[in-house]
Amino acid sequence: MAFTYFFRDLQTLHLIRDHVIPAVRCRRYIKIWDAGCAMGPEPYSLAIVLRESMGPTFGNVKIYATDIDENGHFGEIITGGEYPYDQLKRIPKGIFERYFKKNGKPGYFLIEDQLRKCVEYQKHDLLSMHPIRKDLVLIVCKNVLLHFREADRVEVIRMFHGALQRGGYLAMEQTQKMPRRVAGLFEPVVANAQLFRKVG
Ligand SMILES: C[S@@+](CC[C@H](N)C(=O)[O-])C[C@H]1O[C@@H](n2cnc3c(N)ncnc32)[C@H](O)[C@@H]1O
Repeated sequence: MAFTYFFRDLQTLHLIRDHVIPAVRCRRYIKIWDAGCAMGPEPYSLAIVLRESMGPTFGNVKIYATDIDENGHFGEIITGGEYPYDQLKRIPKGIFERYFKKNGKPGYFLIEDQLRKCVEYQKHDLLSMHPIRKDLVLIVCKNVLLHFREADRVEVIRMFHGALQRGGYLAMEQTQKMPRRVAGLFEPVVANAQLFRKVG
C-alpha cells in the first residue's frame, strides 16, 4: 500500500514547476500539503525540483507531508532523511550529487539539510475530513484516493478545496479523474493532466 519512489512522477513535478511556482513564487509563505506521502520520496522529490527552480525563494517553501502511517514509522524515516541507494537510483546523477551525501551508514545517503528542514511530517488520516490547515497554495495527493470509496473521494476533494487559498492548486495522479460531483470546484490548468486550480 505504501509503494513509492523518488521522482516517481516527473511529469507532475514539472507541471508544478512550470504552472504553480510562477504564480506563487513572490509570496512570503508557500505552504504545500503532500497528503499520503508514504515514507517521503514524494515530498522530497517535490522539494528538490522546487529547490532547483526557485533559487533563494525556495526558503519560503514549507511542505507538510502527512500519511495515515498505519505502522507508525514514516515520521522517523522522513525526519531522518536517510535513504538506501537502491531507492535513490532513479534520481538524475547531477541532482543526486548536489543533494545527497554519505552519512556513515553503509549504502545509505542523507538528504541535504535545507530540503530536510523544508519537509515537516505529521500523522494524519484523510478520512477524518479535517484539513491540516487552510492556507495552502498547493495540495499533492497521488495514488491514495484510488483506494477510497467514491463518496469518500468526493468528500476528501471538497475538504481539499476548503484547505486551499483562493486560486490554490491540486495535483493528483494521471489516472485519478476529478469526480463529476466536485468538478465545479476546480478548473484544469492544462489539458490531459490532473493539475487543477481552485475556483471560488
Ligand atoms: C501508494 S502510496 C502513495 C505514496 C505517494 N503519494 C506516491 O504516489 O508515491 C499510498 C499512501 O496512502 C496512504 N494512505 C492510505 N489511506 C490513507 C488515509 N486514510 N489517510 C492518509 N493516508 C492514507 C498509505 O499509508 C500510503 O502511504
